[in-house]
Amino acid sequence: MGLTWGGADCRKLAETFGTPLYVYDAGIIKARCRELRTTFLERWPNTSVHYAGKAFLTRATARLIADEGLGLDVVSGGEMYTAFSADFPPERIEFNGNAKSREELDMAVRSGVGRIIVDHADEIPVIEHLAEKYGRVQNILIRVAPGVDAHTHKAIATGQTDSKFGFPAGGKMLTDAISSAQQCGHINLTGLHFHVGSQLFDNQDYVMAVNKTLELVKALKDEQGFITHELNMGGGFGAVISPDVPAMRSEFYTDIMMKTLIEGCERLGLEVPHVILEPGRWIVSEAGITLYRVENIKELSGVTYIAVNGGMADNPRIALYGAEYVGVNIDEPHAKPYNREGNTRVSVVGKCCESGDVLIEDAKLPYLKAGDIIALYNSGAYTFSMASNYNCLPRPAVVFVENGDARLVVERQSMEELIRGQYL
Ligand SMILES: Cc1ncc(COP(=O)(O)O)c(C=O)c1O
Repeated sequence: MGLTWGGADCRKLAETFGTPLYVYDAGIIKARCRELRTTFLERWPNTSVHYAGKAFLTRATARLIADEGLGLDVVSGGEMYTAFSADFPPERIEFNGNAKSREELDMAVRSGVGRIIVDHADEIPVIEHLAEKYGRVQNILIRVAPGVDAHTHKAIATGQTDSKFGFPAGGKMLTDAISSAQQCGHINLTGLHFHVGSQLFDNQDYVMAVNKTLELVKALKDEQGFITHELNMGGGFGAVISPDVPAMRSEFYTDIMMKTLIEGCERLGLEVPHVILEPGRWIVSEAGITLYRVENIKELSGVTYIAVNGGMADNPRIALYGAEYVGVNIDEPHAKPYNREGNTRVSVVGKCCESGDVLIEDAKLPYLKAGDIIALYNSGAYTFSMASNYNCLPRPAVVFVENGDARLVVERQSMEELIRGQYL
């Protein structure tokens, strides 16, 4: 029996839509949203979840997230534009990012986004000016780096004090920014934000971040009279690499975060703030697979290369930070790995002109031949959203499947689109 995804036959999907192909089981994305609703939003009062669109944002994703009742975290004008094009309610959008342009801030304030997460003091006068111009009071939070070195790859750790993101906790830079925001007539500074890193499997990183941030909240209250009404604790929940590995449960993170927060507030005499979370990867990674066609197989001494028709252009995560994937042959997903005589390693490699263009470094795959189709499990996060046109490879299509039905949500890029806007 061949591989099905969301009830749809993967071979048929590959034949209908071509490869490489991003395939998402929309039912899994919805189930994740619902899990957050039952285990977090309904369990803990005064909380919100904003899906981090950077993990995977298309118009259809934005619509699905809106229908599931979550908010959306965006980090660029492009993400905002995508969300607005799907009628995402602006008041449920927050605008994050460490290098926001004036134009992006203008778009955010003009459109009425619910919150802007300030990452640099220079944003404050710009937001004040824009909010006055558009006759609004803009809610903002200030991002802090709480000084937590999260247990993850350094490329996706963001909570350490020398991070490029946010204000180091407890410095003059932060207290000055708070004072400056407090003096603005068109800004409502509601609280603080932190995000310590991505792909976290240890909930103690969050415990440390909450405790450190509460000390800061207390100091800011005592020394500056600043009350943290809202606390955004970021995203970062881990995604596992295959359907054979039990998924991380959201309450593994949220229960301990909320208990630490509530106990800490009690201990320090603080009011419990409204809590916002921004998970991205955990909502979409395990819903997505990517289908590739095997182009050829090269057997060398010590290594066999299985070369496929995609690679780092549609999934740069392996090259960027050593992400790991599990692949299967869609025609026999449960087949045992084939041991090629004398070869210790089987690597699935892409078609890009870099030796680092690897999809699976040490794959456990059955005997394969050219024309077979491989599915890369749990590749729904930071793949489509990080895709490039390196080597002028057109970006693959995206298909949503649910209960056996498939619908195209992003067309495969055409050659014409590749050269659109280019002049001789
Ligand atoms: C500020 C912020 N929030 C949320 C996220 C989402 O992280 P994840 O997809 O790991 O949940 C990120 C990821 O980089 C981030 O920088």
